[in-house]
Amino acid sequence: MKVGILTGGGDCPGLNAVIRAVVKKGITVYGYEIWGIFQGWKGLLEPNLTVPLNLDKVSGILHRGGTILETSRTNPFKTENGGDLVKQNMKKFGLEALIAVGGEDTLGVAAQLHTLGIKVVGVPKTIDNDVVGTDYTFGFDTAVNIAMDAIDRVHTTAESHNRVMVVEVMGRHTGWIAIASGIAGGADLILIPEKPMHIDQVCDYIKKRHERGKDFSIVVIAEGAKIALSGKREQEYQYIVQERGLDQFGHVRLGGIGAILSEEIEKRTGFETRYVILGYIQRGGSPTAFDRVLATRYGVAAIDLVHKKDFGKMVCLKGNKISSIPLSDIAKKTKPIEEELYQIAEVFFG
Ligand code: F6P
Repeated sequence: MKVGILTGGGDCPGLNAVIRAVVKKGITVYGYEIWGIFQGWKGLLEPNLTVPLNLDKVSGILHRGGTILETSRTNPFKTENGGDLVKQNMKKFGLEALIAVGGEDTLGVAAQLHTLGIKVVGVPKTIDNDVVGTDYTFGFDTAVNIAMDAIDRVHTTAESHNRVMVVEVMGRHTGWIAIASGIAGGADLILIPEKPMHIDQVCDYIKKRHERGKDFSIVVIAEGAKIALSGKREQEYQYIVQERGLDQFGHVRLGGIGAILSEEIEKRTGFETRYVILGYIQRGGSPTAFDRVLATRYGVAAIDLVHKKDFGKMVCLKGNKISSIPLSDIAKKTKPIEEELYQIAEVFFG
């Protein structure tokens, strides 16, 4: 059997570990041919973006960030008859089954393609950890560790200069990275998309802390956090909006809310404030041991599902057990942070 594998959406550390696991078990245990499809779904819309993978091609990639198959945010359903084109091309390339490694968007496409009869299995990835149906996506642990390290470094300079430091981390719809790195890094306030906050409340927390004798503060903010600069009650809040274009899945490009927040804090409290935007640093480089192991387990589980002909499923982690759920259960949803985690973070606010 000829099985294709693609990586779609934003890259993250651990993608190569999945590819390696699929190729290794697919070839040595099941005797399959594994083909790499380049640039996500784009590779199934265009000719010449598929290559055979062998053990040599995946040797030495376990620890490498990014994806040897490259990625894109191409949505085949934005192309006329895109779904049928994917189907025809799979036939043309001789691919009987497909493993799609991606976040909510890539897996949403996989779910739609499955309804068109394509034999597909999904693997959840994203530094944002917001794919529903799984406790963890790989990439998240690495991003949190990078963000925690940055917060630690920002801490010492904040103390030296008696400054408020705003650290902006990724997290488009959810605050998983912000909450985890903020708790681990000892943040004095964490702002996330799930918990809109008025700027007055932000400043009150910081002032309260400084009244206690502290002369520096660390504020962690997720790029998608909602901060209101006006309005008295939550129903009247007017949030900071940044228009930086949409991708093919209709998502706004974020980044920069930390700069606005930093300016507002300084203006309203009089405390000297600086900001840092971590951006793509969180997505680059080597995966942590946790992510390498999780990605490897997912890769092995994905090719096992293919072998069992259990298509239309996404591999997932429940507790410490690898399992699978229908792709149709996860499409067009995001997993918000756990309330309990927020309540823990809140103990340390102000
Ligand atoms: O993959 C998730 C993510 O890193 C989000 O946290 C972020 O908003 C987005 O991707 C950035 O996407 P792009 O790589 O298209 O700029």
